[in-house]
Amino acid sequence: MATASATLLLSLALLASAAAASPSSGAGAISRFQEYLRIDTAQPAPDYAAAVAFLRGQASEAGLEARTLELAAGKPLLLLRWPGRRPSLPSILLNSHTDVVPSERQKWDHPPFSAALDEASGRIYARGSQDMKCVGMQYLEAIRRLRSAGFVPDRNIYITFVPDEEIGGHGGVELFVSSKEFKEMNVGLVLDEGLASPGDEYRVFYAERSPWWLTIKAKGAPGHGAKLYDGSAMENLMKSVEAIRRFRTSQFDLVKSGEKAEGDVVSVNFAYLKAGTPTPTGFVMNLQPSEAEVGLDIRIPPSAHVEALERRLVEEWAPSSRNLTFEFKQKMSVLDNFGKPAMTPADSTNPWWLLLEEAVKSAGGKLVSAQRRVPQRNRDIRVHHQGTGHPQR
Ligand SMILES: *[C@@H]1O[C@H](CO)[C@@H](O)[C@H](O)[C@H]1NC(C)=O
Repeated sequence: MATASATLLLSLALLASAAAASPSSGAGAISRFQEYLRIDTAQPAPDYAAAVAFLRGQASEAGLEARTLELAAGKPLLLLRWPGRRPSLPSILLNSHTDVVPSERQKWDHPPFSAALDEASGRIYARGSQDMKCVGMQYLEAIRRLRSAGFVPDRNIYITFVPDEEIGGHGGVELFVSSKEFKEMNVGLVLDEGLASPGDEYRVFYAERSPWWLTIKAKGAPGHGAKLYDGSAMENLMKSVEAIRRFRTSQFDLVKSGEKAEGDVVSVNFAYLKAGTPTPTGFVMNLQPSEAEVGLDIRIPPSAHVEALERRLVEEWAPSSRNLTFEFKQKMSVLDNFGKPAMTPADSTNPWWLLLEEAVKSAGGKLVSAQRRVPQRNRDIRVHHQGTGHPQR
């Protein structure tokens, strides 16, 4: 299966004919989008039931077949189908996730689930508007227009709205790709999350870095804050922090000098530092604590030398000789199920790529040569990659 991701690709491919037919349906599309945005699907307690109820209504208006799969309890996955003329052909799957990341309400100009529309700028303010409720709604709006223009696709087109992407996809796509429903769909191409294009071009992303979420813990003799001694937890940990920062700088320098693209280096960022002996108002200031901990978000491109990085971790970042231990909260492989770097070929060797290029061109759009790699994560894309691997005709 080839996985490409871009906003509006389906609509691009097919809307050219339909757009002219319904020039004034924009306002309805915007209010439907706002309605979706107003459903609070923020982790850790997304209102999936409300989202699925809303989307089922949309699907029924668009004339699509709908099924709700509950592969994990309380986490409904909505599966829509637009039947094609030749259902034996591999199908196209348009995926988006319904959950969104949490927000700090007090820091927002407009409440994050108000979907306030600023008439002057045309901006809509809402958590999840880009990541990725806009994409799900674009699929549905494109299909609405195409259906009203009388278009019938050759292949079956499936649209999935999946839960739990923001927390790793375990209760969503991960279960879905091994389900019998998924097998029966005979999916040839998945389009999933991309990044908004700041210009007029349509950008397609064809690979993604693998997240490694790592914690490193240090132990050491506790002691008075006035004493200089070796082997304190803080000292042991800070040596690692320094080594990790040097590595981070070396990777970032490659990007800054233009030698490598952002998606081609290993990114390392500090997620948290935890240490100290708390008091009701702060921390004990004259005590060197016996434990300290750091959390890291590391992203590995498919081309990275993984063994070298693992050696660096064991020898330099968390050596047991310095009383350090480490644990992966998440460690995704950079390989697909066939042992190859998980990347979709974005050239003429991939029939889907050629189709996409052709469709964008015939709709009067411009497809920029594929991005080297997505600089942010979408867990679901990776699961699709790992599940299959190669394009099929
Ligand atoms: C590690 O811990 C042991 C036992 O507490 C201690 O003897 C040793 O000095 C520590 N080593 C370092 C480098 O902190």
